[in-house]
Formats: sequence, structure tokens, C-alpha cells
Amino acid sequence: MIQTLTAPAPAPLYVELARSLEQLIEQGTLRPGHRVPSVRRMSLQRDVSISTVLQAYTLLENRGFLEARPQSGYYVRPRLPHDTPEPRMARPMAKPSYVGINDLTAEVLTLACDPSYVPFGAACPDHTLFPTKKLARTLAAVGRNDPSLLGRYAMNWAYDPLTREIARRYLQAGCPLAHDELIVTLGCTEALNLSLRAVTKPGDTVAVETPTYFGFLETIQSLNLRVLEIPTGPRTGICLDATRAALAQNDVKALMVMPSFSNPLGSTMPDEHKEKLYRILAEFDVPAIEDDVYGDLHFGERRPKPLKAWDTDGRVLLCSSFGKTLAPSLRVGWCAPGRYLERVRRLKLTNTLGTPVVLQKTVSDFLRNGGYDHHLRSIRRAYHNQLHLFSQAILRHFPAGTRLSRPEGSFVLWIEMPPGVDTLRLHRDALKHRINTAPGALFSVKDRYKNCLRMNCGLPWSDAIESALRTLGDLAKKQL
Ligand SMILES: Cc1ncc(COP(=O)(O)O)c(C=O)c1O
Repeated sequence: MIQTLTAPAPAPLYVELARSLEQLIEQGTLRPGHRVPSVRRMSLQRDVSISTVLQAYTLLENRGFLEARPQSGYYVRPRLPHDTPEPRMARPMAKPSYVGINDLTAEVLTLACDPSYVPFGAACPDHTLFPTKKLARTLAAVGRNDPSLLGRYAMNWAYDPLTREIARRYLQAGCPLAHDELIVTLGCTEALNLSLRAVTKPGDTVAVETPTYFGFLETIQSLNLRVLEIPTGPRTGICLDATRAALAQNDVKALMVMPSFSNPLGSTMPDEHKEKLYRILAEFDVPAIEDDVYGDLHFGERRPKPLKAWDTDGRVLLCSSFGKTLAPSLRVGWCAPGRYLERVRRLKLTNTLGTPVVLQKTVSDFLRNGGYDHHLRSIRRAYHNQLHLFSQAILRHFPAGTRLSRPEGSFVLWIEMPPGVDTLRLHRDALKHRINTAPGALFSVKDRYKNCLRMNCGLPWSDAIESALRTLGDLAKKQL
């Protein structure tokens, strides 16, 4: 047989230009804060068109190397030193255990809504980052154009244009889903709750990453389930060997996992790890409840594929929402429960009957006509920038030896301070300064993470934020 070999296509000009500038930044020739040549000058210097330079600068902006300052030009964005130490991984847990009631979780969440506190506690972005005025107009138009929507029960009614749009977006992310496999829920919270109820009964054991999102622990506690914590790294997520050992040694009924931009660590599993994890789950016949709520908030070019992309037998229940990207208050989320579709559908009916169609249609209309992709690009840039600024300020103000996660998406940081710091005490002290925090103890059922803190960086940078971080750092230093 004759084979024709074709040479790989050369990269587009703008990609080559971006690469060469990226190298200059990596080598330190272009330093943080430096202004790069204007678009016009660069086009003359490199003998390329203005639009090629613009595309290259936009690419570098999206990848976090440059930032555009209005009326001033493009600047090299500050980056964390490569040698900033990262948080360490916890040891495996010997036995599953029940989750105690943690009043502190409720307190942190309640204070997150009190505007007199600096909101470092809950992972809630500032409302100014969302297109609230446009959404309000869309909501009003939906009510005006079809008031009957207000007078009808939703009865598990998934608004078709919305589910088709969600499915289309997953297809783009390399995860084909049929729109009628989706159940529209009240936020990701309801999707997680229904999924967990679909695959467990009281007394069962659920495996989670450690540290894990405290919402998982609260839901597990409310359903009288036991938890088994699996060590998770700040870069590549859940430890596969530890997962395999945990499933081999325990009767685990489900794994709750955040493969992309986990909360609180910010880790993202490489594709090979996701595939291997899926194989381990299949080997032990365990379903996974995947929380993908931060998946769209990537700083790199590509959205990470959900674990669901490897699911060939319907064991992954994919949960997410528009809460972190568009509108936390509209409470529009979804679940793709795979082989548990009918069970989750029944549970949804008994739980809340349905998700208000007015809200589903508002989101759907916004996705179609409101410039959602443009908004997503700008919110990703904002979160990325904020993470940099927070990280740098934390390294400036927190005790020497502080370790910091380096998420490639989302807006939360995991901070590990020296062992002498007690973040529960720090939380109490900080409240006196009207600063709300999320101490490490919230993210585990074991006595772990006493010197750790999760930081909400979904807040536009300001002098008040810097000053609150300085106060927190000073309070921590006083403990040493
Ligand atoms: C990991 C994770 N999952 C789910 C949620 C809740 O999402 P929703 O507002 O859509 O219920 C949050 C909110 O902080 C979260 O951090």
C-alpha cells in the first residue's frame, strides 16, 4: 500500500509571534510590568499585519502572559515565582467515618452575604463581575413576552433550547451528551444532592478528595452517609494509587470528585489520569459524581474535558451550573446522570417538582443573544488577574514559609501556612476585623488542615482587599 506522508501544517503566524514573545517573557527579557511594543510598532518590527499582532496579543492575554490596560497598551503580567512552594498532600484515611455537624460552615456561608464583612470565606464572586443588568432585562422580557410561564408548574420540565445549548457546549469540550440526558436543577447543589441520593442509602460510604469542598461534606452528613478521604495533590488532583487502594479495601458506593479546578485545591487531572480514574471506577463498579462547576473557568486555551467524556457505561453523574459563570442567583444548574437518569428524574420531582422555566428561559436567551462567550472570556481574564494579585499579596503579607496553590482556572486559592498557625483561631480573630475566612478544618472530617485557609479571589482588586490581606497576615504572624 502506498502511504502519502504529509508534513504537519505550520502554526499560524500569530501563534508563532505569541510563542516568540512568550519565550522572551519566560527568559525574563520582558519583565513583569514592562509595556510591550504597541500593536502598530510590533507590526512594523515583525513585518506582519496589525490583525496578526492583535491576535497574538489576545492569545497571550488569554494565557495570562499579558494584560491590556485601557488607553495605555499591553503589559507583561506579573507572575508568581516558579519556586513558590505548593501545599502538601495529606495522608490516606484508615477507615470511613461519619461527618460531624459543623456549625462553622453555616456561619461562614451566612456571613458571606453580609456586606459589612470582607468576603474571603465562601467561593462567591463579586456581583459586579456578572452581567446583571443585561440579565435583568432578559428576565423582564421573558416574563413580559410569556406571562403564562409564571402561572404553570414546571414539573420536571427541562426547557429544550437550554438543554440543547448546554449539550452543544459539552460537545465543543469533547464530551458528547444528548440534550435529553440532562435534568435541569436548582444549582449544582441540587444536582449533587440528587445524584448522591440516587446512588447511596444511609450508612453507605462515599469517597471524596481531601481537602474537599465543604458542601460535599454537608450533603454527605445530611444523608447520614460515611466519608472516606483520598489524598489529592494541588496539581494533578486525586491520587490514583490511593483511590485504587481505597476502593479495593472498602465497600465504597460512590466517589465525589472535581477533576477540573477542584475546590479548594484548584487541581486539574490530566486527561490520562481521568481515563485511568474511569478505568478504576469501572473495575470496582463504582459510580462517580463529578462536580464540573468550575470547568468553564480555564485560563489556558482549552476547556478541560470532564471525566464524563470517558464514560462508556453511564457511571458518571455530571453536575454543574451557571452559578460561577453567569448568575448565582438564578440557580440554574444541571445533571447528566447517565444510567441513573430515571432515578434522578424521580428524585427531582419529589425534591422541587421542577426548575422555574422563567429562569431556564432567561439563561437560555442570554446564552443565545447576550454575548455569553464574550462575557466568559472577560470573566476568565478577571479571575486570572485576581488570582495573580491575591497570590502576590499573600506572599508579601503572610508568614514566611507560606505555601500556595497555582490553579489553572477558577478563583480560589489554597494556602498552607507554617504549622504554628491555627486558622480556626485566625478566623475568630479576623471576624473582629470584619473579615470572613474559610479555615482549613472545614474541608475535612479528620483533624487536618489546621494551618490552611481557602481564599475567595473572586473579588476585584482594591486597596481594601490588600489591607484586609495585610491584616490577616499580621494576625497569623502574631500566632508564631
Ligand atoms: C465545588 C462547588 N460545587 C458546587 C457549588 C454550588 O454551586 P451552585 O451555586 O450552582 O449550587 C459550589 C459553590 O461554592 C462549589 O464551590
